[in-house]
Amino acid sequence: MKKQLVLSETLTKAYPSENRGEPELVVFENVNFRIREGEFVTCIGHSGCGKSTILNILAGLQSPSKGYVFLDGKEITRPGLDRAVVFQGHSLLPWLTALENVTFAVRARWPEWTKAQVRAHALEYIEMVGLKDAFDRKPHQLSGGMCQRVGIARAFAIRSRLLLMDEPFGALDALTRGSIQEELVKICAATGQTVFMITHDVDEAILLSDRIFLMTNGPRAHVAEAVSINLPRPRDRAEIVHHPGYYTIRNHLVDFLVSRSRELSGGRHGATPVPVHNAKGELLFPPDVDPLALSETVTR
Ligand SMILES: Nc1ncnc2c1ncn2[C@@H]1O[C@H](COP(=O)(O)OP(=O)(O)O)[C@@H](O)[C@H]1O
Ligand SMILES: [Mg+2]
Repeated sequence: MKKQLVLSETLTKAYPSENRGEPELVVFENVNFRIREGEFVTCIGHSGCGKSTILNILAGLQSPSKGYVFLDGKEITRPGLDRAVVFQGHSLLPWLTALENVTFAVRARWPEWTKAQVRAHALEYIEMVGLKDAFDRKPHQLSGGMCQRVGIARAFAIRSRLLLMDEPFGALDALTRGSIQEELVKICAATGQTVFMITHDVDEAILLSDRIFLMTNGPRAHVAEAVSINLPRPRDRAEIVHHPGYYTIRNHLVDFLVSRSRELSGGRHGATPVPVHNAKGELLFPPDVDPLALSETVTR
């Protein structure tokens, strides 16, 4: 079993009500999960359930109202070079070329490296995302998909412990999205990068994930289950849909999004409190569910 890298413990985010005397708005509550080293985890849930907030807390950009997140056993309290983030819109520096946007980050990560070392390392990742011929173009000379590729190259290049991606392909057309997904599959296989990614695309989640965290609707959202995607790797976007288990998994996810995410939701005033600890006082994690085995086991 691979080493545990990320731990989220009773993570809760609440905002004070705008009207005095009204209860606070609890976006999510008691979110527990673990991510192992090298795992690709995606998170799916309806808009507003707090996915981006959780990712920002992992990035160190926001803080929880209650609970903790740990990376390598150390509590996350601020951003750091041990984490890389890719957001939906690219966040490239417009006055730098594609390559320079990557070298900039590589230099910050390894200040002791020579110029040649930095350049060679950055070029390797520019090539991985298929931008070898466009390395000296500036963001305004690149398409949206190409910019997003540069952002991905930059994120992988710094060899962070954890890569965080918030709907990174949400703004791209289907064809571009498909080819970047395929590159991502290959880069992850080559680098063993640990990834936590938010998506609303169930096919994308199945293609990429080792496990998918399913979140209930807010307010008081929580991770209801961790779905194991036990489809063989390497995975190919065109072939995977022909796997006999593909639609079993897909239907499980869609059924959750269509009905169970609402039924399991705690509701505005917390109608159904979710158990956080077992009888021994140990933290309860969402059950690992394997739709193919049709067996549900609570893991502790
Ligand atoms: N400053 C704020 N005050 C009150 N509510 C907020 C504030 N910022 C975010 N929220 C609420 O937090 C919820 C979760 O947002 P977000 O993490 O972006 O969800 P998701 O990414 O799942 O769509 C939203 O319902 C939003 O209305
Ligand atoms: Mg979001």
